[in-house]
Amino acid sequence: MQIHESVAGLRAALKNANNVALVPTMGNLHDGHIALMKLARSHGETVVASIFVNRLQFRPGEDFEKYPRTFAADCDKLAAAGVDHLFAPAEAEIYPRPQGYHVVPPDDQDAILEGEFRPGHFRGVATVVMKLFQIVRPAVALFGKKDYQQLMVIRNMAADLNLPIEIVGGETIRADDGLALSSRNGYLSAPERAEAPRLGRVITKVVEAIRAGNTDYQGLERQAMAELQAAGWFPDYIAVRKALDLQLPPAHESGLVVLAAARLGSTRLIDNLEV
Ligand code: PAF
Repeated sequence: MQIHESVAGLRAALKNANNVALVPTMGNLHDGHIALMKLARSHGETVVASIFVNRLQFRPGEDFEKYPRTFAADCDKLAAAGVDHLFAPAEAEIYPRPQGYHVVPPDDQDAILEGEFRPGHFRGVATVVMKLFQIVRPAVALFGKKDYQQLMVIRNMAADLNLPIEIVGGETIRADDGLALSSRNGYLSAPERAEAPRLGRVITKVVEAIRAGNTDYQGLERQAMAELQAAGWFPDYIAVRKALDLQLPPAHESGLVVLAAARLGSTRLIDNLEV
Protein backbone atom coordinates (compact mmCIF):
# COMPACT_ATOMS: atom_id res chain seq x y z
CA MET A 1 0.00 0.00 0.00
CA GLN A 2 1.34 3.42 -0.96
CA ILE A 3 0.86 6.22 1.57
CA HIS A 4 0.50 9.79 0.32
CA GLU A 5 0.50 12.92 2.45
CA SER A 6 0.26 15.44 -0.38
CA VAL A 7 -2.43 16.11 -2.96
CA ALA A 8 0.22 16.32 -5.67
CA GLY A 9 1.76 12.97 -4.69
CA LEU A 10 -1.61 11.22 -4.65
CA ARG A 11 -2.66 12.73 -7.97
CA ALA A 12 0.61 11.65 -9.58
CA ALA A 13 0.20 8.10 -8.27
CA LEU A 14 -3.39 7.90 -9.57
CA LYS A 15 -2.61 9.46 -12.95
CA ASN A 16 -3.14 6.21 -14.87
CA ALA A 17 -5.47 4.50 -12.41
CA ASN A 18 -8.77 3.23 -13.74
CA ASN A 19 -12.09 3.05 -11.98
CA VAL A 20 -10.95 4.35 -8.60
CA ALA A 21 -13.04 3.44 -5.52
CA LEU A 22 -12.65 5.82 -2.58
CA VAL A 23 -13.45 5.14 1.09
CA PRO A 24 -13.14 8.36 3.10
CA THR A 25 -12.57 7.85 6.84
CA MET A 26 -11.40 9.72 9.91
CA GLY A 27 -9.24 6.76 10.97
CA ASN A 28 -9.43 4.69 14.16
CA LEU A 29 -10.55 1.93 11.86
CA HIS A 30 -12.78 -0.94 12.96
CA ASP A 31 -14.37 -3.89 11.15
CA GLY A 32 -17.07 -1.61 9.73
CA HIS A 33 -14.44 0.38 7.85
CA ILE A 34 -12.66 -2.78 6.75
CA ALA A 35 -15.92 -4.18 5.35
CA LEU A 36 -16.20 -0.96 3.29
CA MET A 37 -12.65 -1.43 1.98
CA LYS A 38 -13.53 -4.96 0.87
CA LEU A 39 -16.75 -3.75 -0.73
CA ALA A 40 -14.71 -1.07 -2.50
CA ARG A 41 -12.57 -3.78 -4.05
CA SER A 42 -15.67 -5.27 -5.69
CA HIS A 43 -16.64 -1.85 -7.10
CA GLY A 44 -13.30 -0.49 -8.31
CA GLU A 45 -10.01 -1.52 -9.81
CA THR A 46 -7.95 0.77 -7.59
CA VAL A 47 -8.95 1.20 -3.95
CA VAL A 48 -8.06 4.45 -2.19
CA ALA A 49 -8.75 5.05 1.52
CA SER A 50 -8.38 8.44 3.15
CA ILE A 51 -7.76 9.26 6.79
CA PHE A 52 -8.43 12.83 7.78
CA VAL A 53 -10.03 14.08 10.99
CA ASN A 54 -12.00 16.98 9.58
CA ARG A 55 -12.15 19.91 12.00
CA LEU A 56 -14.86 21.55 9.90
CA GLN A 57 -17.50 18.98 10.86
CA PHE A 58 -16.95 19.27 14.63
CA ARG A 59 -18.59 22.01 16.68
CA PRO A 60 -16.70 23.78 19.46
CA GLY A 61 -16.92 21.53 22.51
CA GLU A 62 -17.28 18.33 20.48
CA ASP A 63 -14.57 15.67 20.42
CA PHE A 64 -12.27 16.94 17.63
CA GLU A 65 -9.23 17.13 19.93
CA LYS A 66 -9.79 13.79 21.63
CA TYR A 67 -10.96 11.93 18.49
CA PRO A 68 -8.80 8.76 18.55
CA ARG A 69 -5.82 8.93 16.20
CA THR A 70 -4.35 5.45 15.65
CA PHE A 71 -2.40 5.87 12.42
CA ALA A 72 0.06 2.96 12.65
CA ALA A 73 -2.62 0.41 13.51
CA ASP A 74 -4.89 1.85 10.79
CA CYS A 75 -2.14 1.43 8.17
CA ASP A 76 -1.69 -2.24 9.13
CA LYS A 77 -5.44 -2.87 8.81
CA LEU A 78 -5.69 -1.11 5.44
CA ALA A 79 -2.70 -2.94 4.02
CA ALA A 80 -4.15 -6.28 5.23
CA ALA A 81 -7.48 -5.37 3.59
CA GLY A 82 -5.73 -4.94 0.24
CA VAL A 83 -6.09 -1.15 -0.07
CA ASP A 84 -3.83 0.20 -2.84
CA HIS A 85 -3.39 3.83 -1.74
CA LEU A 86 -3.87 5.67 1.53
CA PHE A 87 -4.28 9.45 1.43
CA ALA A 88 -3.41 10.78 4.88
CA PRO A 89 -2.92 14.54 4.62
CA ALA A 90 -2.05 16.94 7.41
CA GLU A 91 -4.62 19.62 8.15
CA ALA A 92 -2.61 22.27 6.24
CA GLU A 93 -2.72 20.14 3.10
CA ILE A 94 -6.53 20.12 3.04
CA TYR A 95 -7.04 23.57 4.51
CA PRO A 96 -3.94 25.58 3.48
CA ARG A 97 -5.98 28.73 4.14
CA PRO A 98 -9.30 29.25 5.92
CA GLN A 99 -11.97 27.48 3.86
CA GLY A 100 -13.93 30.24 2.12
CA TYR A 101 -16.30 28.23 -0.06
CA HIS A 102 -18.50 25.55 1.45
CA VAL A 103 -21.01 22.98 0.28
CA VAL A 104 -24.20 23.76 2.18
CA PRO A 105 -26.93 21.09 2.13
CA PRO A 106 -30.50 22.37 1.96
CA ASP A 107 -32.26 22.86 5.30
CA ASP A 108 -34.60 19.91 4.86
CA GLN A 109 -31.53 17.64 4.89
CA ASP A 110 -29.17 19.70 7.02
CA ALA A 111 -31.28 20.99 9.89
CA ILE A 112 -33.07 17.76 10.84
CA LEU A 113 -32.05 14.84 13.10
CA GLU A 114 -28.23 14.99 13.48
CA GLY A 115 -28.20 18.47 11.98
CA GLU A 116 -30.59 19.77 14.64
CA PHE A 117 -28.24 18.65 17.41
CA ARG A 118 -24.99 19.30 15.51
CA PRO A 119 -25.62 22.49 13.50
CA GLY A 120 -23.09 22.92 10.71
CA HIS A 121 -21.99 19.28 10.87
CA PHE A 122 -23.19 18.31 7.38
CA ARG A 123 -21.82 21.51 5.85
CA GLY A 124 -18.42 20.40 7.19
CA VAL A 125 -18.90 16.83 5.95
CA ALA A 126 -20.16 17.84 2.50
CA THR A 127 -17.34 20.36 2.08
CA VAL A 128 -14.53 17.95 2.93
CA VAL A 129 -16.09 15.11 0.93
CA MET A 130 -16.36 17.39 -2.09
CA LYS A 131 -12.69 18.32 -1.65
CA LEU A 132 -11.72 14.65 -1.39
CA PHE A 133 -13.76 13.91 -4.53
CA GLN A 134 -11.88 16.67 -6.39
CA ILE A 135 -8.52 15.39 -5.15
CA VAL A 136 -9.07 11.66 -5.77
CA ARG A 137 -11.52 11.83 -8.71
CA PRO A 138 -13.08 8.46 -7.88
CA ALA A 139 -15.62 6.63 -10.02
CA VAL A 140 -17.20 5.17 -6.88
CA ALA A 141 -17.23 6.33 -3.25
CA LEU A 142 -18.36 4.22 -0.32
CA PHE A 143 -19.88 5.32 3.01
CA GLY A 144 -21.33 3.31 5.90
CA LYS A 145 -25.09 3.21 6.45
CA LYS A 146 -24.46 3.69 10.17
CA ASP A 147 -24.20 7.41 9.33
CA TYR A 148 -27.46 7.22 7.41
CA GLN A 149 -28.10 10.95 7.13
CA GLN A 150 -24.52 11.55 6.01
CA LEU A 151 -24.99 8.98 3.23
CA MET A 152 -28.22 10.71 2.15
CA VAL A 153 -26.57 14.15 2.15
CA ILE A 154 -23.66 12.88 0.03
CA ARG A 155 -25.94 11.04 -2.39
CA ASN A 156 -27.98 14.21 -2.88
CA MET A 157 -24.88 16.38 -3.22
CA ALA A 158 -23.55 14.06 -5.93
CA ALA A 159 -26.92 14.07 -7.74
CA ASP A 160 -27.58 17.82 -7.46
CA LEU A 161 -24.05 18.80 -8.49
CA ASN A 162 -23.83 16.24 -11.33
CA LEU A 163 -20.79 14.53 -9.86
CA PRO A 164 -19.80 11.55 -12.03
CA ILE A 165 -19.42 9.39 -8.94
CA GLU A 166 -21.49 6.39 -7.88
CA ILE A 167 -22.26 6.59 -4.16
CA VAL A 168 -22.48 3.18 -2.48
CA GLY A 169 -23.74 2.52 1.07
CA GLY A 170 -22.22 -0.31 3.12
CA GLU A 171 -24.24 -2.19 5.74
CA THR A 172 -23.66 -1.41 9.42
CA ILE A 173 -21.38 -3.92 11.09
CA ARG A 174 -22.30 -4.87 14.67
CA ALA A 175 -20.52 -6.46 17.61
CA ASP A 176 -21.81 -9.87 18.75
CA ASP A 177 -24.11 -8.16 21.27
CA GLY A 178 -25.64 -5.96 18.55
CA LEU A 179 -23.81 -2.67 19.22
CA ALA A 180 -23.13 -0.88 15.93
CA LEU A 181 -19.37 -0.51 15.49
CA SER A 182 -18.18 3.07 15.90
CA SER A 183 -14.93 4.80 16.72
CA ARG A 184 -16.78 6.52 19.56
CA ASN A 185 -17.53 3.16 21.28
CA GLY A 186 -13.98 3.40 22.59
CA TYR A 187 -15.06 6.29 24.85
CA LEU A 188 -17.45 4.01 26.80
CA SER A 189 -16.56 2.76 30.29
CA ALA A 190 -16.99 -1.00 30.91
CA PRO A 191 -20.49 -0.63 32.46
CA GLU A 192 -21.51 1.78 29.67
CA ARG A 193 -20.23 -0.67 27.03
CA ALA A 194 -22.41 -3.38 28.63
CA GLU A 195 -25.45 -1.05 28.50
CA ALA A 196 -24.80 0.35 24.99
CA PRO A 197 -26.50 -2.43 22.93
CA ARG A 198 -29.82 -1.25 24.37
CA LEU A 199 -29.90 1.45 21.70
CA GLY A 200 -30.01 -1.15 18.91
CA ARG A 201 -32.54 -3.27 20.85
CA VAL A 202 -34.86 -0.30 21.32
CA ILE A 203 -34.91 0.60 17.63
CA THR A 204 -35.28 -3.08 16.70
CA LYS A 205 -38.51 -3.11 18.77
CA VAL A 206 -39.78 -0.07 16.83
CA VAL A 207 -38.93 -1.77 13.52
CA GLU A 208 -40.71 -4.96 14.59
CA ALA A 209 -43.81 -3.02 15.68
CA ILE A 210 -43.96 -1.24 12.30
CA ARG A 211 -43.48 -4.51 10.45
CA ALA A 212 -46.35 -5.93 12.51
CA GLY A 213 -48.61 -3.13 11.22
CA ASN A 214 -48.33 -0.40 13.88
CA THR A 215 -48.47 2.99 12.13
CA ASP A 216 -48.53 5.16 15.27
CA TYR A 217 -44.95 6.27 14.59
CA GLN A 218 -44.98 9.08 17.13
CA GLY A 219 -46.29 6.76 19.83
CA LEU A 220 -43.53 4.27 19.04
CA GLU A 221 -40.91 7.02 19.13
CA ARG A 222 -42.18 8.26 22.52
CA GLN A 223 -42.19 4.73 23.97
CA ALA A 224 -38.64 4.10 22.74
CA MET A 225 -37.37 7.43 24.15
CA ALA A 226 -39.00 6.60 27.50
CA GLU A 227 -37.34 3.18 27.59
CA LEU A 228 -33.92 4.73 27.02
CA GLN A 229 -34.53 7.45 29.61
CA ALA A 230 -35.62 4.86 32.17
CA ALA A 231 -32.29 3.08 31.63
CA GLY A 232 -30.31 6.27 32.28
CA TRP A 233 -29.77 7.47 28.69
CA PHE A 234 -30.30 11.01 27.40
CA PRO A 235 -31.89 10.53 23.98
CA ASP A 236 -31.73 13.33 21.40
CA TYR A 237 -34.18 11.64 19.06
CA ILE A 238 -35.76 8.39 18.00
CA ALA A 239 -37.33 9.03 14.62
CA VAL A 240 -39.28 7.02 12.07
CA ARG A 241 -38.54 8.57 8.69
CA LYS A 242 -38.77 7.88 4.97
CA ALA A 243 -35.55 6.09 4.01
CA LEU A 244 -35.18 8.04 0.78
CA ASP A 245 -35.08 11.59 2.14
CA LEU A 246 -35.50 11.24 5.93
CA GLN A 247 -38.66 13.35 5.87
CA LEU A 248 -41.72 12.56 8.03
CA PRO A 249 -43.64 9.61 6.60
CA PRO A 250 -47.35 9.51 5.95
CA ALA A 251 -49.06 6.50 7.59
CA HIS A 252 -48.65 3.25 5.66
CA GLU A 253 -45.54 4.51 3.87
CA SER A 254 -43.15 1.75 2.83
CA GLY A 255 -39.37 2.23 2.75
CA LEU A 256 -38.90 3.51 6.29
CA VAL A 257 -35.88 3.81 8.54
CA VAL A 258 -35.75 4.20 12.31
CA LEU A 259 -32.93 6.48 13.46
CA ALA A 260 -31.68 7.16 16.97
CA ALA A 261 -29.16 9.32 18.76
CA ALA A 262 -28.66 9.23 22.50
CA ARG A 263 -26.06 10.04 25.08
CA LEU A 264 -24.83 7.41 27.50
CA GLY A 265 -22.69 9.16 30.11
CA SER A 266 -20.62 11.58 28.05
CA THR A 267 -20.66 9.48 24.87
CA ARG A 268 -23.15 10.22 22.12
CA LEU A 269 -24.10 7.14 20.08
CA ILE A 270 -26.17 6.92 16.89
CA ASP A 271 -27.77 3.93 15.21
CA ASN A 272 -30.47 3.14 12.67
CA LEU A 273 -32.32 0.22 11.12
CA GLU A 274 -34.21 0.06 7.85
CA VAL A 275 -37.73 -1.32 8.23
O1 PAF B 1 -17.87 9.30 8.27
C1 PAF B 1 -16.77 9.85 8.43
O2 PAF B 1 -15.81 9.24 8.91
C2 PAF B 1 -16.59 11.31 8.03
O3 PAF B 1 -17.75 12.03 8.27
C3 PAF B 1 -16.12 11.49 6.58
C4 PAF B 1 -17.14 10.97 5.59
C5 PAF B 1 -14.79 10.77 6.38
C6 PAF B 1 -15.91 12.98 6.29
O4 PAF B 1 -14.97 13.53 7.16
